[in-house]
Formats: sequence, structure tokens, C-alpha cells
Amino acid sequence: MAKPVALITGGGSGIGLAVAEHLINFYGYKVAILDVHAERGKTESGRINAGADNCLFLQADVSDYDQQAKAFQQAFEWGGNRLNFFHANAGIGDSDSMYKDMQDIDATTGLPRPLELRIMDVNLNAVLQGVHLARHFFAKNSSPGGRIVITSSCLGIYPNHCLPLYTAAKHALVGLVRATAPVYLGMGITINALNPNLIETNLMPAEVRSLWDRHGLTPMNTAIKAIDAIMTDKNMTGQTIELALDEIVFSKAQPYTYSAKASRIKRGEASGGIELIE
Ligand SMILES: NC(=O)c1ccc[n+]([C@@H]2O[C@H](COP(=O)([O-])OP(=O)(O)OC[C@H]3O[C@@H](n4cnc5c(N)ncnc54)[C@H](O)[C@@H]3O)[C@@H](O)[C@H]2O)c1
Repeated sequence: MAKPVALITGGGSGIGLAVAEHLINFYGYKVAILDVHAERGKTESGRINAGADNCLFLQADVSDYDQQAKAFQQAFEWGGNRLNFFHANAGIGDSDSMYKDMQDIDATTGLPRPLELRIMDVNLNAVLQGVHLARHFFAKNSSPGGRIVITSSCLGIYPNHCLPLYTAAKHALVGLVRATAPVYLGMGITINALNPNLIETNLMPAEVRSLWDRHGLTPMNTAIKAIDAIMTDKNMTGQTIELALDEIVFSKAQPYTYSAKASRIKRGEASGGIELIE
């Protein structure tokens, strides 16, 4: 039987790489790993393959739409014209400061220079484009549909004043998952977020790593537990799954403030508006 196929962005290192190996070894997948870092990606895919053809490395920068789209096409064709799982996982840290001094003024205009928002290109816009592309390829499957997983962060749930741009992008990903899930389910697509606390990967500079209390690190196996939860329940969708030490915690969306009053509100059929009933 044909193997299911996954595409994982940022799959050459850290969480993406661990998920790639898990899908291959435990779920019998073929996995295309997309990464901007070619040397590491090629080495890792070669190691995983060990002579087989279960892992394909694709060099691409997710923030370039054409590059990401080409990688989808290549993964789809390599997998035998199927794509069953898309993990939007590539990410970077803050690319500018929301607290920088206001001396950085353009001499010509007398105005502050714009913020460098590459983090939004990689951590948010590229994910939106990736989800858009996944839908296109999932629709071409002989049995349409598939699973989308997005790596957000615990900073997609909690704010961190040290990383405001990262916090903003990762919160947006949680919003994306929660907003699209009910509609995508009707298309046979599930979409869930992973929200890791600190996991030791190449994202963390070595000097920070050495300072960190190791008891406060979340093991990579917790990310794998979340993937297992998603793989086990084919209808699980719209979930924000916090990875906290060795636990996976399903974080709930804030209810609408007025929902407690909902029973007092009904649609006014005749007027087309909303009227209050006591
Ligand atoms: N490690 C943590 O503590 C932690 C916590 C919360 C969220 N995350 C998120 O997890 C995801 C994976 O990070 P990680 O910790 O495994 O780090 P990592 O640095 O080990 O892996 C990230 C990979 O993404 C790749 N990448 C970066 N920019 C790219 C681009 N433009 N195009 C293609 N590939 C690109 C990098 O080359 C790298 O291989 C990220 O989205 C990160 O924000 C990590």
C-alpha cells in the first residue's frame, strides 16, 4: 500500500526533525523536510533515510511564496501524488525591538525608520501561505483532506514582554487555528497548534542554553506525545496544545463575554437584526 506523505517546514532541526523521524518510524510516512539551512537538512535526511527513500530534503525559504509552493509540488510528486500531513513549523526569534531608542531617525524624512518585521514574514505570513497551499494539495488527494499542524508557542497563549513580536505572531497562529478549524473540518482537514514551552533546540543560542535551569526544559518527547494525540484522533481539530514539561495540556479559548447572555438574545427573523428577549 502507498505510504502517506508529510511536508514539514523547518524540518532540518529541532521539533520539525523530531516529528519527521517519528512519522517515518512509527506511522510509516514518507516525509519531505523543507528548510532554508541546506547543509544540516541534507545531512539529517541522509541519516534518516539510511539507503531508503522515506525522507526528502527540499531547500526553500518559506517566506518566499514561490519557493514554498515549489517545495509543496516537489513533495507531492515525490510522494506519488499525495499529501496527507502539513506541519508549518519553521520559525525564528524577534527581528527587531519594540523598545529601541527613538534616535534611529531617517535624516531625510525626520521620521523613525520602519521596524524590521522579517519575523512576521517567517512566523506568520509564511504559515498562512503554507496552510493555503496545503488546502490546494489536500484537495488533489484521491481521498481529499489531510492534517495540518502549526507550531505556535506557549507565547501564543501567554505574553512575554521580552519577545513582543514573537508573542504577536504566535498568538496570531492560535487565532488562525481556532478560526479556521470548524470550516476546514467540512473539507476533511484538521488543524491544530503545538504550543511548546522551552525545548532545547538550535533556536536557543548556546549561551542562553547554558544558563537555563534544565529542570525547566520541556523534553522533545512531549512534542511527540502531542503528535500522537493528533494522529490517534482523526477528528481532533482547533486545539491549542501546550507542551509543558512532560504534559500536554489542551488550552481553552476564552468564551465570548456576552455568551452568558446568549440565551436572552435571539435573531429577529422579521427585522433581520438582533433583539433582546427577557
Ligand atoms: N524550542 C523552543 O523552545 C520553542 C518554543 C516554542 C515554540 N517554538 C517554535 O518551534 C518551531 C521550531 O523551532 P525549533 O525550536 O525546532 O528550532 P530550530 O532552530 O531547531 O528549528 C527551526 C528550523 O526552521 C528553519 N527555518 C528558519 N527560518 C526558515 C525559513 N525562512 N524557511 C525555511 N526554514 C526556516 C531553521 O533553519 C531551522 O532548521 C519554531 O516555529 C519555534 O518558534 C520553539
